[in-house]
Amino acid sequence: MESEEPQDVWATNGITFWALFSAMLVKLQPESVLEFGGGRSTTFLADYAFRFGKSGLTIEQSEAWHQKILSDLRLMNVSGYDVHHVPLEEGAGPTGWYEFTEVQRLIGDRTYELVFIDGPVGDGRRNERGQEIIREASRDAKLIIVDDVQREHNMTFFDSLTESTPARHKFIHDYETLGNLIAFGVSPEWKDQVARCFRFFGLTYTEGTSDGGGARLSRLWESVRGR
Ligand SMILES: C[S@@+](CC[C@H](N)C(=O)[O-])C[C@H]1O[C@@H](n2cnc3c(N)ncnc32)[C@H](O)[C@@H]1O
Repeated sequence: MESEEPQDVWATNGITFWALFSAMLVKLQPESVLEFGGGRSTTFLADYAFRFGKSGLTIEQSEAWHQKILSDLRLMNVSGYDVHHVPLEEGAGPTGWYEFTEVQRLIGDRTYELVFIDGPVGDGRRNERGQEIIREASRDAKLIIVDDVQREHNMTFFDSLTESTPARHKFIHDYETLGNLIAFGVSPEWKDQVARCFRFFGLTYTEGTSDGGGARLSRLWESVRGR
């Protein structure tokens, strides 16, 4: 590990959320995974990919967290999943995103069935060029997960992704203990399975599409605005 150490470690989602996440992976079996912002989630994604013979890539901004994730995966005896350290664009300011050319090199012209957006830290997720790269890589996505959609710019991006990909059905989960909202865009053929996973673990959700359920989603949005 380099001298930079993980600092300000946040509590991650609770065990029920990770159980839900694992169940979704096992039930849906996405062929390919792309994650922005690694951490605990990466250990679940990499474990899934290793055991089910799928491919995956995580882009991580911090060398310290990158090393921490790699050492977790070694401990778990999990291999074959790509975790890359890609620093933020130098001098880009508060909406700086991962180094564009490096992310583009890593992704190439691939598309991913599962795209999980949980980075970069701060305001970088507003970055329009970064959003375009994600949109391109998500064009065939059947499951898109965007964390922290209580923030308006994340919700706006999530909405626009659901409209430009097959993952058009929206499930929004409020994990109240952390004050966060997490959004799942799901393709029509996967949406019943996703609903079953939520119900199995007793987790509530608000659902709808851009064409229906809009009022429900708006009410939820109004109730969390400014959290
Ligand atoms: C929101 S976190 C990503 C969390 C990850 N997707 C997860 O669900 O575990 C965004 C960034 O914060 C750093 N990070 C990851 N886990 C962290 C934690 N538990 N506490 C503090 N920072 C974390 C990493 O640099 C990561 O890219």
